[in-house]
Amino acid sequence: MIRRFFAPGRVNLIGEFTDLAGGLALPAAIHLGVTLTVEPADELDLRSPLGDLARSVEAVVAELGRPPEPVRGTLSSTLPAGAGLGSSASVHVVLALALGGLEGLELAQVAQRAERRALGVPCGILDQAASALGADGHAVLLDFATLRHELVPLPEGLAIVVVHSGVARRNAESGYVLRRRELEEGMPARVRHVESESGRVRGVVDAFARGDLPRVGELFRAGHESLRVDFEATVPELDRLVELAYAEGAVAARMTGGGFGGAIVALVAAEDADAFAARMPGASWVTRACGGAREL
Ligand code: GLA
Repeated sequence: MIRRFFAPGRVNLIGEFTDLAGGLALPAAIHLGVTLTVEPADELDLRSPLGDLARSVEAVVAELGRPPEPVRGTLSSTLPAGAGLGSSASVHVVLALALGGLEGLELAQVAQRAERRALGVPCGILDQAASALGADGHAVLLDFATLRHELVPLPEGLAIVVVHSGVARRNAESGYVLRRRELEEGMPARVRHVESESGRVRGVVDAFARGDLPRVGELFRAGHESLRVDFEATVPELDRLVELAYAEGAVAARMTGGGFGGAIVALVAAEDADAFAARMPGASWVTRACGGAREL
């Protein structure tokens, strides 16, 4: 019997790099993602037209700690790579789902450990948790100190628009590793970012609950400033794009994801979202909060 498994990408609404230091974040799963189609076979044989999957498959099997049922299959993706939408996390989530039948936080944890093993990047658990735990119309409030998570309903009538800066996330991995080390060493500006960012996550959750969209806009703007000045993870193209997004009518906008290039996220009135995306330079995706990893 043929089975199909889907793991979404994610957009982080706010709470950047907080997963490296026990803070808070508020990501959402999106409609774009990876699909793995499998059928029973004599041996495990999974492929992707996008590149070699062997290391990821090996890492997931090792982290599951037991040999999976042998299947053969192919991965396909609607997620742009290198846009900061969690494409590599969704690959490991879909593999852990299809081969291990895991769900929820356990799925996210196995996928995170597998990704670290396969790619050698000391990533946090933001992307995998968003992909595993997402729900239609909701963001996921994550507390990385306890791994407690809670669904937060998003205001009706708001679309999520992701706009790529055109700057590939080149050298992003070395930047990420460096920032992680600086945080561990307690560098004041880096720690200040993570602490103030967790406060902004709480503020955004409260403002959503009150329907106070101007406050959400202020907090996103302050979050981007903190990433620019204290965490130094933005690039000028991202800074300009955020300014432009507000000028073009976004309710809120900030850089999103691992930084050093990649994309911004903007919250835009749903009826204006397509026109807004067309007014912004570069590639963009109009999306909304969607369900997490699942069998189709
Ligand atoms: C990347 C990492 C995540 C997280 C973000 C920044 O996406 O994979 O774990 O640290 O950067 O918030």
